[in-house]
Amino acid sequence: MAESKVKRIGVFTSGGDAPGMNAAVRAVVRTSLHMGIQCIGIRRGYHGLINCDVTPLTFESVSGLSRQGGTMLYSARSKEFQTEAGQERALATCKMLGIDGLVGIGGDGTFRGLQVLAKKGISVVGIPGTIDNDIACSSYTIGFDTACNTALDSIDRLRDTMQSHERCSVVEVMGRHAGHLALYVGVASGATAVLVPEEKIDYEHNLIEPIREARLAGRTHFMVIVAEGVEGGAYGVAQKVHEATALDTRVTILGHVQRGGHPSARDRVTATYMGYEAVKLLAAGKTNRVVCVQEDKYVDFDIDEALSMKKTLDPQTYSVMRALTGMEQVGMK
Ligand code: F6P
Repeated sequence: MAESKVKRIGVFTSGGDAPGMNAAVRAVVRTSLHMGIQCIGIRRGYHGLINCDVTPLTFESVSGLSRQGGTMLYSARSKEFQTEAGQERALATCKMLGIDGLVGIGGDGTFRGLQVLAKKGISVVGIPGTIDNDIACSSYTIGFDTACNTALDSIDRLRDTMQSHERCSVVEVMGRHAGHLALYVGVASGATAVLVPEEKIDYEHNLIEPIREARLAGRTHFMVIVAEGVEGGAYGVAQKVHEATALDTRVTILGHVQRGGHPSARDRVTATYMGYEAVKLLAAGKTNRVVCVQEDKYVDFDIDEALSMKKTLDPQTYSVMRALTGMEQVGMK
């Protein structure tokens, strides 16, 4: 095995936590130790790096971690790191602790922070971890599968009671400004309609028509999935449904339950592979990279290039959802 170009790796989690982040941390630690590299856990993301809030990580520290939701390193958003002074303090922590490589697990904001530290001479690699699946350079982000299954379990339960009372359920899922979670869960749950922020709002064609068609086909209960980034959210959509159809509607905001739970096999395995690949890149002397999945292969992109990419809804999932819900193709914003 070639001599590693880095001797001590700092690993942290940042932004909204996601099921599977712990599995990525475990893989970073175990791969580092396997390659003769020491590993330090940085708590609370960039806030912890600035304040030297760290803990040494050993083989035993991460034993059994893959099955645990959340992140053992905590997560936080740091306004101070947006300042030059905060960035210098973070750099000073790296220098004081002899950290010459960093692995940051999170979203675009995490990668922008890594970019700054790369320019200051620290070798950095990002791992996409967010339930939103909205990182453009990667077809998959850690946490998405578990969040979809968690949402789906709740939606299946809702369907029972909506059927009993012949109601329309309007369910709001997370995703920040993206509709990937809503779209995927919409197809998986056989929703009557799915509303995503990427689409021009057209209640008649996207919402009311599909409900009317389902009613004509004899359906007496209805399931509408709304991404939280849709204007007016689930309450606004429920009001539109009631006004147009007089249906008895009930709103459920799934919220942060989608962020918890034991990670699925897909998230544990994806996170483990990404942690492994991240350490390999640092050991090979690479920096300013993001580990991604493209067509089921693990690849890496330069962070600058990755952050310039744009991600649209998966066209195939979008077309399937449109066809199976009877929603007319209205088109993207
Ligand atoms: O980015 C992940 C996410 O769960 C989004 O889907 C959601 O809008 C946001 O985080 C919630 O942020 P917070 O946990 O800070 O309330």
